[in-house]
Amino acid sequence: MSHLIAPSILAADFANLQRDIEMINKSEADWVHVDIMDGVFVPNISFGFPVVKAAKKHAEKPFDVHLMIVEPDRYLENFKETGANGITVHYEVCPNLHRTIQHIKELGCRAGVALNPHTPVALLEDIITDLDMVLIMSVNPGFGGQQFIGNTYKKIRDVKALSRRYNPDMLIEVDGGVDEHNAAKLIEAGANVLVAGNSVFSAPDPSAAIAHLKHPSGILR
Ligand code: DX5
Ligand code: ZN
Repeated sequence: MSHLIAPSILAADFANLQRDIEMINKSEADWVHVDIMDGVFVPNISFGFPVVKAAKKHAEKPFDVHLMIVEPDRYLENFKETGANGITVHYEVCPNLHRTIQHIKELGCRAGVALNPHTPVALLEDIITDLDMVLIMSVNPGFGGQQFIGNTYKKIRDVKALSRRYNPDMLIEVDGGVDEHNAAKLIEAGANVLVAGNSVFSAPDPSAAIAHLKHPSGILR
């Protein structure tokens, strides 16, 4: 399968959200990545339900909701109602992860688990058959525009190895500091969904930046 591109609207111009969503509609992007931050799990607050709903009204592509919040179980229904097609929760805040994942699936959403840069991939071994996606954080969650952490390549290779063994159809998403320089290497390591905030929305031509991520130069396969 060719890899997917999920531009993160955290880096969009919120005063022109409709324009930026329409740019995504017309681009080669596959999903819209929606970052929800609560100021507790991460040291930043992004936006909530009214903004997600407003964005959804204009979007033609699936919403990939990344919950950087504590107690995500309390809000899964709400995110489904605001238009989430996939919901990703953080391993670090889910004491009953198996239950959380089943709940997301019962809602009819793709179920994902995100790992912070310090969280070992090996911890997923007994849940991986239940997952539709693993999100490897390549920065510490909380802010856009941070520097990519190099250890991510190794983590993606580790998830890919687990996935080959237990769940070959599972998606592997990478989030944070992704740009046209590391895209090919990430895909070669095993990533098949690239999230990109600043490298898309700070580009002079965001749609062209999405196209570069979709067709990165230097890709070997
Ligand atoms: C970071 C968020 C990311 C962020 C990525 O906590 O999860 O999705 O928007 O932004 P860039 O691509 O600018 O690092
Ligand atoms: Zn994200």
